[in-house]
Amino acid sequence: MADPVKPLSDFHEQVAIVTGASSGIGEAIAEALVQRGAHVALFARRTDRIRALAERLSRATNGEHYGETLTVTGDVRQLEDVQRLVRAVLDRWGRLDILIANAGFGYRKPVVEGDPARWKEMIDTNVYGLLLTLKFGIQPMLERGRGKVIITSSVAGRVATPGGSAYCGTKFAASAIADSVRQEVGPRGIQVTSIEPGVVISEFQRVAEYTPDILANMLKGAEPLMPGDIARAVVFALEQPAHVGISEILVRPTGQTYP
Ligand SMILES: NC(=O)c1ccc[n+]([C@@H]2O[C@H](COP(=O)([O-])OP(=O)(O)OC[C@H]3O[C@@H](n4cnc5c(N)ncnc54)[C@H](OP(=O)(O)O)[C@@H]3O)[C@@H](O)[C@H]2O)c1
Repeated sequence: MADPVKPLSDFHEQVAIVTGASSGIGEAIAEALVQRGAHVALFARRTDRIRALAERLSRATNGEHYGETLTVTGDVRQLEDVQRLVRAVLDRWGRLDILIANAGFGYRKPVVEGDPARWKEMIDTNVYGLLLTLKFGIQPMLERGRGKVIITSSVAGRVATPGGSAYCGTKFAASAIADSVRQEVGPRGIQVTSIEPGVVISEFQRVAEYTPDILANMLKGAEPLMPGDIARAVVFALEQPAHVGISEILVRPTGQTYP
């Protein structure tokens, strides 16, 4: 009988998409997958950043077991861009095994002070863009009856906080979408995991225009997570055999009490 706790972390020849691969959590997940032998399509709007990551990963391989990369510039809010991403992956590698739907950003303000244009951009990215990614990414998986999907939600998708009306709203939506999709496609062989990070140091804080006191209040002296901490949890979910569905993983800094 096979060892029941043997890690299955060889992703050799597996084909993955990572949205939001130009920075932070997506970049760390992409790197972890390529290092384990997966071929990874890096998707984001900043071409220079995904090209630099591809270049770094190709230099690091020394021709050994690292996977290949493909860079696709695009915006998850644009249906054509997401379709083009999936088509590029199928053209290059002929299939899709792993879909990391991770692109997103935060914006925190009490609702009466919120900027409606920023809300719309965030809802379009974190909710509509997520739906597009899932719609077009899962289709080729269904045709093969197998695949693994990771959706980056947040602790903010489980617990609402003041100032989080818009961001928590998008992440509660992401968690709900993950749970619906899991039930839709699980019986057809697709494993769906919602990953829910607490405070992770990345470009997220700059994009969300956090002042130092916002981060300090969230952490209260706790050591924050780094993107690699989330990548490790994602690898854990992805290395499970086909009959094991890790529906959710919530990862907080050990000392985080907010929320
Ligand atoms: N950091 C945290 O504390 C934390 C906690 C919980 C959940 N999360 C979630 O984790 C995910 C990744 O965040 P992060 O911390 O890694 O932040 P980050 O370093 O700012 O990375 C965000 C990534 O999303 C991409 N992105 C944003 N809008 C996009 C769009 N319209 N189309 C395509 N790509 C887009 C960005 O690329 P371009 O700008 O190049 O397009 C970037 O690669 C987000 O969904 C975030 O909500 C973060």
